[in-house]
Amino acid sequence: MRVLGIETSCDETGVAIYGDGEGLLAHAVYSQIEIHARYGGVVPELASRDHVRKALPMIRQVMEEAGLAAGDIHGVAYTAGPGLIGALLVGSALGRSLAWAWGVPAIGVHHMEGHLLAPLLEEPAPEFPFVALLVSGGHTQLIDVAGIGRYRLLAESLDDAAGEAFDKTAKILGLPYPGGPELAKLAEQGDPGRFRFPRPMTDRPGLDFSFSGLKTFTLNTLRAELAGDGDPQQTRADVARAFEEAVVDTLAIKCRRAVRETGHPRLVLAGGVSANRRLRARMDEVMAAEGGRTYYPRPALCTDNGAMIAFAGWQRLKAGQAEPLGFHPRARWPMETLPPI
Ligand code: KG4
Ligand code: ZN
Repeated sequence: MRVLGIETSCDETGVAIYGDGEGLLAHAVYSQIEIHARYGGVVPELASRDHVRKALPMIRQVMEEAGLAAGDIHGVAYTAGPGLIGALLVGSALGRSLAWAWGVPAIGVHHMEGHLLAPLLEEPAPEFPFVALLVSGGHTQLIDVAGIGRYRLLAESLDDAAGEAFDKTAKILGLPYPGGPELAKLAEQGDPGRFRFPRPMTDRPGLDFSFSGLKTFTLNTLRAELAGDGDPQQTRADVARAFEEAVVDTLAIKCRRAVRETGHPRLVLAGGVSANRRLRARMDEVMAAEGGRTYYPRPALCTDNGAMIAFAGWQRLKAGQAEPLGFHPRARWPMETLPPI
């Protein structure tokens, strides 16, 4: 079975084709960064309109690259949620219509399940069961994964998601949208010894996260330091470094706890923030010390993409889980409600 995947949940249009024994045949991602940058964040209506412009030409392009015609596609997967409802509607309507026109089954994929399964596209793929840390712009979750669709939520953020905290802190530091990667770049020039930021909620038992206080702490530190007579650019880099260190350390402490509690020696990192180099390196150290190992996708498959949607849809369609005619995008959609395969 060969599946076309379409991702349009936020500000990236992603298209890919995944097949049995063939793997990833072609994939393309188009980022709307330039459209939203001047507003400092994603403008939902502009996102929807741009998905309308880009999705179909990208499907043509990917099919051409893979050397495939319509009859060579056996199923269509599209992101049905969670995400921006207008953006989701574009991919859902398009995916559902193509499947109907081609006479093949369709399935609405859960965006975070897409992220969660993306490390299975790499070699070696993690075996079940494992602990997954999902860190994106909208979610921070620890999940006990027994198999596909067998998810037990261990913890989540009580306020800002990790990516959201990166983005908001980047804004405080005067960095352009999207802030996460920019902050990580600035942190490279920072002195790790100058500031030590708190590790929220690590001094008590439990696995939940909270990142909004860290953002405020950053703002207060920056204000106080910039009022002094140090080099402002170095101060910003040092603050970025301290912030990144605090987030990475907090995530590492909670992941170690989750691995010990579940007894699974495998930790999967997924979602945009898992592209962060320092986070990957720290988790590698933690898991080596626990006698296990870490799994994460190549950076291009950490942030939003069509490959993860094609792959998750392929898994479910292969198991016979097609949906009836009609489509139901959902802005909110708890992942634990997904059926197992
Ligand atoms: O998974 P994703 O592409 O979209 C969502 O589903 O939200 O994640 C985007 C998030 C943004 O908050 C972005 O700033 C963050 O991932 N991000 C990073 C890095 N690359 C992307 N955060 C820290 N370091 C990075 N290298
Ligand atoms: Zn995402």
